[in-house]
Amino acid sequence: MTSPVFLTRVVLRNYKSIGNCDVKLQPLTYLIGANGSGKSNFLDAMHLVRDALVGSLDNALSERGGLPEVRRRSSGHPTHFGIRLEFILPSGMRGHFAFNVGALKNGGYEVQTEECAIGGRGKGPFYSIERGKLKQSSESTFPAVTSDRLALVAVSGLTAFRPVFDALVSMGFYNLNPKLMRELQKPQDGRLLKPVGENIASVIGHLEKHAQEQIKTIEEYLQTVVPMVHGFERKAVGPMETLEFRQDMAGSAHPWRFLAQSMSDGTLRALGVLTALFQGNRDYSPTLVGIEEPETALHPAASAALREALTKASRHTQIIVTSHSPDLLDDPNLDPDSMLAVLSEGGETHIAPLDEASRRAMREHLFSAGELLRMNQLTPDREVLATQAKNQADLFGDISV
Ligand SMILES: Nc1ncnc2c1ncn2[C@@H]1O[C@H](COP(=O)(O)OP(=O)(O)O)[C@@H](O)[C@H]1O
Ligand SMILES: [Mg+2]
Repeated sequence: MTSPVFLTRVVLRNYKSIGNCDVKLQPLTYLIGANGSGKSNFLDAMHLVRDALVGSLDNALSERGGLPEVRRRSSGHPTHFGIRLEFILPSGMRGHFAFNVGALKNGGYEVQTEECAIGGRGKGPFYSIERGKLKQSSESTFPAVTSDRLALVAVSGLTAFRPVFDALVSMGFYNLNPKLMRELQKPQDGRLLKPVGENIASVIGHLEKHAQEQIKTIEEYLQTVVPMVHGFERKAVGPMETLEFRQDMAGSAHPWRFLAQSMSDGTLRALGVLTALFQGNRDYSPTLVGIEEPETALHPAASAALREALTKASRHTQIIVTSHSPDLLDDPNLDPDSMLAVLSEGGETHIAPLDEASRRAMREHLFSAGELLRMNQLTPDREVLATQAKNQADLFGDISV
């Protein structure tokens, strides 16, 4: 089996509360930190890349309140933010995509530099653009580029760069909303679950047709989390659609059927999380799935099943979850390397692997990650943070393998 890791390293500069961040990602990464520490901001940086590629950079920024809300506010008044993603494509080729966006005097913004390379500079496809001008490229023809858009959108028309575009837009980011999952939904593209679960009926319909085995896996985990619920299916309601659940009823020989409308928040959220995790199939697979606080609205006893589902899903798809729940992390066998601690100090977010004391406590089974979190002792490695601050990893340039 090929490795499920798509993003190997993420470098961020002045993205919301994150001044500087340079982290490596695992097949399954837990981002752990208190409320307001900056976990969502980290995921949002990757989500912005997807949004800017699927729609436009303009839209992606507007949806977030514009550049002033996206770039970090601090006494140092940074005027730009930057994102660098290092990846392994499904073909096994390594590469990176990076850009920074700066403010213009007239209140607008521009992409100052954008760079993409596959297989190492000079060896594979490569381009570098500054303020809407192509500086270097491996290709003999290149589409017109402008400084208010990410060139990768236009460049995705070239076969050389298409795999990077496809892989980046196949990332899914989730903050499931039971209210929207409960409403009747318009039949739509069901290949990739949308961020709050607004197309879950179409996704389940798609899996029913193309991947019965994934439906089975989702049903099994759902039943562990919510034992009364036996199954679910897509159900057409006039021109709209929804989900219908089968549920045990005391004294009744046959399960009762309920539409999503009457299901609990916890059940809908659990189904959303499981669908996000197991939506990948032969027809279409996300390259990375990021889930916000998957334990929300679940009974603490469901945490073990949720952890197992996360681990199982991460054998095929790279998973990132944010959490501030000790219950989710109460497992002596959790790998310390799968965790990144997120900490806010003076309004600035720091993200790093766990410090040696936390790792040792977990390795020697003295405390689980959950217990350390309860004691407020799940802390980022100070030395790594100091090195991050001192070295300020470059956004641009070749990957160091
Ligand atoms: N542009 C910005 N500059 C500085 N801080 C920001 C910016 N945008 C949001 N924040 C801060 O980020 C914090 C919330 O981070 P978030 O990622 O939502 O936390 P959580 O860890 O709970 O997911 C808030 O305290 C907010 O003040
Ligand atoms: Mg959050």
